[in-house]
Amino acid sequence: MNENNTPKYILPGIDGKIELLKQKNEAALKGGGEKRIEAQHKKGKLTARERLELLLDEGTFQELDRFVMHRAKDFGLDKEHYLGDGVVTGYGEINGRLVYVFSQDFTVFGGSLSETHAEKICKIMDMAMKNGAPVIGLNDSGGARIQEGVNSLGGYADIFYRNTLASGVIPQISAIMGPCAGGAVYSPAITDFIFMVENTSYMFVTGPNVVKTVTQETVTAEELGGASAHSTKSGVTHFACPNELECIKHIKSILSYLPQNCEEVAPVYPYELLEDEIREELNSLVPDNPNHPYDMRDVVKGIVDEDSFLEVHENYADNIVVGFARIAGRSIGVVGNQPQSMAGVLDNHASTKAARFVRTCDSFNVPLLVLVDVPGFLPGTDQEWNGIISNGAKLLYAFSEATVPRITVITRKAYGGAYDVMNSKHIGADLNFAWPTAEIAVMGAKGASEIIFKREIAESEDPEAKLQEKVEDYTEKFANPYRAAHRGFIDEVIIPADTRSKLIKAYKMLENKVDKIPRKKHGNIPL
Ligand code: HXC
Repeated sequence: MNENNTPKYILPGIDGKIELLKQKNEAALKGGGEKRIEAQHKKGKLTARERLELLLDEGTFQELDRFVMHRAKDFGLDKEHYLGDGVVTGYGEINGRLVYVFSQDFTVFGGSLSETHAEKICKIMDMAMKNGAPVIGLNDSGGARIQEGVNSLGGYADIFYRNTLASGVIPQISAIMGPCAGGAVYSPAITDFIFMVENTSYMFVTGPNVVKTVTQETVTAEELGGASAHSTKSGVTHFACPNELECIKHIKSILSYLPQNCEEVAPVYPYELLEDEIREELNSLVPDNPNHPYDMRDVVKGIVDEDSFLEVHENYADNIVVGFARIAGRSIGVVGNQPQSMAGVLDNHASTKAARFVRTCDSFNVPLLVLVDVPGFLPGTDQEWNGIISNGAKLLYAFSEATVPRITVITRKAYGGAYDVMNSKHIGADLNFAWPTAEIAVMGAKGASEIIFKREIAESEDPEAKLQEKVEDYTEKFANPYRAAHRGFIDEVIIPADTRSKLIKAYKMLENKVDKIPRKKHGNIPL
């Protein structure tokens, strides 16, 4: 090993040449050296190569560019070289399916991104695009290689550009397994799913020191941009994992619901249809009192294949539930209002969370199942000033432009604008079912009666009794699914226990659906 950390010892003949190659390979595998590997382990983190070993099927990893080294000369870099330059790249398989990967090596210059480090990542991204397979990035980096200045910034932009072009073409997954700061956050931000590891990873555009200087706030890195902050407050990360092993397990799992690219469909898992797909427990799920909550996840579990529900964004905007599942072995994306959180109302965060998920599913040909129990949009200055109009419109837009099979089941409330937005027939849903407990109306019976019978109630001898009478009248007329069913806005009112069976048949019927939106450069979703 010379001062450049690269072997130069050469014996004569082919034996010597093979020996040199072996030595170079060994040197590359050591990354930044034993001490730094030890330091990495002490932080509770795995190395770049250990992570890839866990992620990929055994023996499938094919590394590329193992001998790439940086070209920088300033600040002593001409004397310090590491084979691979701080990132391990290549391709391999996950559950037998091709994926491209890059894994940043924190033991080499803190995993910082040099011009050549970026070139390696771009190379596998280009290959992934040409061959139509997902890219998974394991991020663990101190950001731009400071000694390289603008060359490094250019490298980042080369990656951002590719992330954008690949968006909607191939699935892109980012795992944050260490620092990810400054502009570096924008590559993961453009990808489809971000995973973070609790207590060892963080993402922010400026760290705690800059925050202190600019806003005088005192905050730790974990509070500012740890997995907890981004999975609950900002919604930037879709999954907060307790450790790296869980993180890798989740990445493999999410890929199983997705196709390799936008021209394909997700893998179909073997499923033997039972004679009887009836789920009696669904009949008693919705409480008699319309103001009582229940867990929409129980509805999901009663409909989809056993243990197949993978919730996305679990801890963010929990008034709406989104996630992947399988029904008779086929992948679906589920969006459901959650009555047990804020009565399932649609607010800014719920709208953007669901809109993003709907678009992800539509990009990758994953059919949608929408479960509706929504009292409307959340009123108030906070919501209005933070753009509930634009944000609600995102969800409306996302459903309207989705061409995948789309099925809605109204379990209880479908009120006001939220009825329209939640994948109604009018915005292109293929099949709309309702349970007998459904209430499809402009608003709840009490609110409606107070408005339209205001004078009659006020002038009555017993306003309370009058209101009650009007509420009952309104409930009978509108708080049911039949008005909508008379108009064909609901295709069928079904017994809850039959929902799974109905949906299996419905998705099969829609299997070859062809739908196109008008030709355009691209739509202008209200961002
Ligand atoms: C070059 C870097 C580096 C960097 C770390 N190292 N970051 N080398 N460029 N950006 C090196 C260190 O010199 C050190 O080398 C090794 O990596 C490990 O770093 P430590 O500081 O010892 O590790 P730790 O204590 O764990 O701290 C990690 C860290 C810290 C928090 C990431 O290193 C740090 O703050 N780095 C700078 C972060 C930063 O400001 N980056 C630029 C952001 S701007 P040795 O030889 O001692 O092992 C940016 C713009 C992108 O990224 C814009 C894109 C559009």
